[in-house]
Amino acid sequence: MKKYIIANWKMNVNARKEAVKLGLATARLAQKYKKRTTIIACPSTVHISLLAKNTDYAPLFIGAQDITFHESGAHTGETSPLALKDFGIKFSLIGHSERRAVGETSAVCALKVRAAIAAGIQPILCIGELARDKKGGHYRFVEKQLRESLSGIPVLALRALMIAYEPVWAISSTQNAAEATPEDIREMALFIQKVLSDMYGTPKLPVRILYGGSVNTQNAAEYSNIEGISGLLVGSASLNPKSFEGIVAVV
Ligand code: PGA
Repeated sequence: MKKYIIANWKMNVNARKEAVKLGLATARLAQKYKKRTTIIACPSTVHISLLAKNTDYAPLFIGAQDITFHESGAHTGETSPLALKDFGIKFSLIGHSERRAVGETSAVCALKVRAAIAAGIQPILCIGELARDKKGGHYRFVEKQLRESLSGIPVLALRALMIAYEPVWAISSTQNAAEATPEDIREMALFIQKVLSDMYGTPKLPVRILYGGSVNTQNAAEYSNIEGISGLLVGSASLNPKSFEGIVAVV
């Protein structure tokens, strides 16, 4: 099975020239490692039109960092799934912790997941606890996020869904970020599958679970080999083609 690797550039690449340069370097990696990986780069929205539907970047997929749940109309500042779809966008992050930190709720994420699927865009739903505690509160936190973010989403739609488990305490931009252990990730991936099974009353659902949070050249091989993990979501290390190749080459 090919591994998915998502490069989340966040708001770190602002000049058009830089977006093109990083896009071309990432596309070279997508070509070099295409037998084993599917790479999806998520630039800022204004750069999507430069990179998407452009054969210079094939076989790199271009994804969105966010999406709105409205199709069209009076929604100033939003980007419609239909507009993204028109640029050939096939994937979008939804509910990244940096969006949740500015007020995006799981209920809104559920609307976005639904709208993305309706437009033919595969949602990469991000979930993850802010902190861990000895009483296992992080499991309850993740379960709540998952149930609310998929509220009303029918089982058939799950085929299109990817879930990125990204514990906020492990994301590199969090103050005093710590690296998750493979065991932390394996247990949570199992737990997510169990919650999905409970929710949908089906033992094995076809949902891919990715891991994100301080993925780097040192931990990528181990992380990507964890049972139940189908790929990685990479933030800061995706900004440097050398370190990104160090990840892509070992998954
Ligand atoms: P990081 O970011 O790889 O820099 O920790 C991951 C993310 O926030 O998606």
